[in-house]
Amino acid sequence: MIERDNQITSTKGQMADNKLDLALRPKTFGEYIGQADAKMNLGVSMKAAKKRKEPLEHVLFYGPPGLGKTTLANILAGEMGVSIKTTSGPAIEKQGDLASILTNLKENDILFIDEIHRLKTQIEEILYSAMEDYALDIIIGKGPAARSMRLDLPRFTLIGATTRIGSLSAPLRDRFGHIFKLDFYSDEEIQQILRRSAGLLGIKIDDQALAEIAKSSRKTPRIANRLLKRVRDFATVEDISPVSLKFTQKCLGTMGVDMLGLDKTDRQILMTIIEKFQGGPVGVNAIAAATSEETETIEDLYEPYLLQIGFLDRTRQGRVVTENAYLHLDIRMPTPNGGQAKNKNVEQKNLF
Ligand SMILES: Nc1ncnc2c1ncn2[C@@H]1O[C@H](COP(=O)(O)OP(=O)(O)O)[C@@H](O)[C@H]1O
Ligand SMILES: [Mg+2]
Repeated sequence: MIERDNQITSTKGQMADNKLDLALRPKTFGEYIGQADAKMNLGVSMKAAKKRKEPLEHVLFYGPPGLGKTTLANILAGEMGVSIKTTSGPAIEKQGDLASILTNLKENDILFIDEIHRLKTQIEEILYSAMEDYALDIIIGKGPAARSMRLDLPRFTLIGATTRIGSLSAPLRDRFGHIFKLDFYSDEEIQQILRRSAGLLGIKIDDQALAEIAKSSRKTPRIANRLLKRVRDFATVEDISPVSLKFTQKCLGTMGVDMLGLDKTDRQILMTIIEKFQGGPVGVNAIAAATSEETETIEDLYEPYLLQIGFLDRTRQGRVVTENAYLHLDIRMPTPNGGQAKNKNVEQKNLF
């Protein structure tokens, strides 16, 4: 159970969820909910590219995991009527790997590189001319006999996705025609996504129950779908249909997900800052060391949501736990003069 608690709100793609992800993944812009800004801009560029019979400009998506980057890349391919070849930064080990992927593309095809910030430098460098001139400069041979050769490539579109835009080198970033930040979803949008998913999975479920799952979804479609699937499992076992609010609350409770979607690790991070660092400010490396999590995991998976719901503040001196977090955890917030302020029973303020 503990293990599952940890996983349930994890934003990482999990093997077991891949099939579900595929079944629920929107195939068209029409089915893709939210992210209005990205959709609108991409729609215009796509129409223009089609009209000019040119490939779409290179596109970069960034934002926390589970918000729909891979989905958008696939939708773009579908709507442009071209093939998409998918790979990831860490999967491309040698220059030759990238060369063979690129030379096998057809005109206007899309190459999707996930986790593009993890490309090795020497591979990134050959991507520059591929993106800019649709050409590949490769060195053949070694030492004095080495010579460089230029290969022409089909005109393709590179779509990159990353959870950490800050780790991308400036030359690579500058070669993208479009850069879109994917935002967390509103509860209403998540509810719409859940309603669609419930329909696809054939689950009868009350609107209030969907709203409850939406609240616990960390504003992230992948987590929303995962929670819905777990609730469906419970409902199947107990022969419950339609699924009610009360039953949903019971399921979420059993899964250890609280009403804001915080899991054990979120709580551990907040408690560590409160207990070991007097609420902060504290650097992310110190938090990582104290919680035995990787710095990258905290920065990519946990912190964005805690910042989004206003439980953490990022200051120049480090991370600080906010008053709202103290209220949620039901802990008294220390005042600067060392006393204890705030009645812990104060009603929760507007958290969103
Ligand atoms: N805008 C959206 N509308 C509906 N479902 C979405 C949307 N964005 C993501 N999803 C769902 O969430 C899942 C995870 O999205 P994905 O594109 O894999 O996220 P990312 O690549 O950013 O980690 C998808 O399989 C899809 O079911
Ligand atoms: Mg992805």
